[in-house]
Order: sequence, then C-alpha cells, then structure tokens
Amino acid sequence: MQSVESHGYKLPIVGLGTWQLTGRDCARLVEQAIRLGYRHIDTAQMYGNEAAVGDGVRASGKRAEVVVTTKVQPERLAPHDLERSVKESLHKLRLDVIDLLLIHWPNPRVPLSETLGAMAKVKQEGYVRQLGVSNFTVALLEEAGKVSSEPLVCNQIECHPFLDQSKVIAATRKHGMAVVAYSPIARGGAAGDAVLEKIAKAHGKSAAQISLRYLVQQDIVVIPRTSKIERLEENLALFDFALSEAEMAEVRALSQRQGRIVDWSWSPKWD
Ligand SMILES: NC(=O)c1ccc[n+]([C@@H]2O[C@H](COP(=O)([O-])OP(=O)(O)OC[C@H]3O[C@@H](n4cnc5c(N)ncnc54)[C@H](OP(=O)(O)O)[C@@H]3O)[C@@H](O)[C@H]2O)c1
Repeated sequence: MQSVESHGYKLPIVGLGTWQLTGRDCARLVEQAIRLGYRHIDTAQMYGNEAAVGDGVRASGKRAEVVVTTKVQPERLAPHDLERSVKESLHKLRLDVIDLLLIHWPNPRVPLSETLGAMAKVKQEGYVRQLGVSNFTVALLEEAGKVSSEPLVCNQIECHPFLDQSKVIAATRKHGMAVVAYSPIARGGAAGDAVLEKIAKAHGKSAAQISLRYLVQQDIVVIPRTSKIERLEENLALFDFALSEAEMAEVRALSQRQGRIVDWSWSPKWD
C-alpha cells in the first residue's frame, strides 16, 4: 500500500471510512477490508462505532499493521475532557494505543493551545502515537503550527472533484502535513456524473474509482466508506491505471460547482 509521509510518519493512502457503519456489520466490513489490504481505518467518537471498529481490527489478526484513527468531539476539547475522551476511546476500541488522534472539529470556545497541549500529553504518556486535526482552515492551521509542541501529521477535510479546496490543501502542505480527503466520492455523488463516467469508461473503471484516483494521484489520502463488501475491493483498485494531464484538468474543472456537502452550525468560516 502506498503512503503519504508527514514528519516521517507514513499514512496509508487508502483507508476505510466508517461513519454510519455500526455493530456486527461494521466489524465484519473492517475485518474484511483489512484482509483485502486496507491498512488505515477511520473512526470517531461521534460515530458511536469504536467498539465495532476495534472488534474488526482485532479479528483481522493484523492489528500491528493497521493505522486506526479516531477523533475527539468538539465539546470535549478542554484538557481534562480530552484526556477522558481518549481513555474512553481506547476502552471502547479495546486497543492498547490509538495510532492517530484528531481534533474532529475546531471549537472556538476552547483555546487551541490548551487542546494541543493536552494532545501532546496523551501522546507523551503513550496513549496515542500521532496527532492531527480535521476541518481546519488556513487560519487555524497557522495558529496550530505556532502553538503545537508536537508535529501534526494531517488535516482531514472534505475533498472530492466537486469542491475547490486548493487554498486549504496548500496551507496543509506548507505545514508539512498530509491531506486526508473525507467524502472522497462525494457521498456517492461521483457515480452518475457525466464527466467522471466518461473518463471511467475510457479506463474500464467506475466513476467512484476516477474520483478516488484523481485524489491519490495528487498524494491525497482517501478514506471512502462503503457498507458493501464487494465495493471494498473496487475502492482499493486505484493503482493499475493513471489519469492523463488532460483528464486531471477535466476533473479539476468540476470543482467550479463548489458542491460542499458537510457544513454544520459549528463549522468554521471556510476558506
Ligand atoms: N472529519 C470529518 O468531519 C468527517 C466528515 C465526513 C466524513 N468523514 C470520514 O470520511 C469517510 C468517508 O466520507 P463519507 O462517508 O462522508 O462519504 P464517501 O466515502 O464519499 O461516500 C460514501 C457513500 O458512497 C457510496 N459508495 C461507496 N463506494 C462506492 C462505489 N464504489 N460506487 C458508488 N458508490 C459508492 C456508499 O454507499 P454504499 O454503502 O451503498 O456503498 C456511501 O453512500 C466517513 O465514513 C468518515 O470516516 C469525516
């Protein structure tokens, strides 16, 4: 599995997203994904499925090879809350360490320096291997870069062909961090798009695979989610073809639609 490197840490370039997957189905999908070659599983406290994700990881028999990411909810970013949150996540996952811990969403009511200080502490105490952020804007990345005592290895952001994220991608890279694309197939919206379908046909691939290939070809980590075992393989089969410069440009042009999908009342002011 290819990876994207940040501060010497290698993040596998394809991971499995698990939002909305729960219970035994979730555990089975995670286990099967790892058997098929996935080495990166994305969960969050907010998804309520850490126990099932942990079950799947352990059942795969390959725990040591897999990067498990979880995230702290925005209302638990004060130092004491964050420490409790991390211990709860570990308890639910039933793993001895969290490979990558992210701030799920920024919270302007908690000073970032305090949250990042608490994250550095849980890392130094051995609960967590690596730290990162999610849904951070250019300004927040700048602030994090100034106050974090530990390297931050990624910014997980909404990223797919229908959204221009060039500013935040450039800022993430300026800070030496990997870009992780969530909703990388636009919640399934890649399928049926005329441009992606046309390119897909030319390569004997699906439109979802074109959306994912477009991202990995730019060294962006992707974490597509599926509830269907048969799609696990499809979403991993991205390395036996390449998009031409002209095809990359055609896909890039779709970003003019500014089709942001994930936007909540607590979202920061997007770039
Ligand atoms: N940090 C954050 O704030 C944040 C926000 C959103 C998401 N995430 C993470 O990112 C992961 C992925 O994002 P997402 O779940 O929003 O969306 P996504 O992965 O872009 O899309 C998932 C949807 O696409 C469908 N799908 C999957 N593979 C397909 C294929 N090959 N062809 C056609 N349709 C396909 C799935 O349906 P089926 O189940 O029927 O296959 C599902 O409805 C999440 O699961 C989560 O782990 C993080």
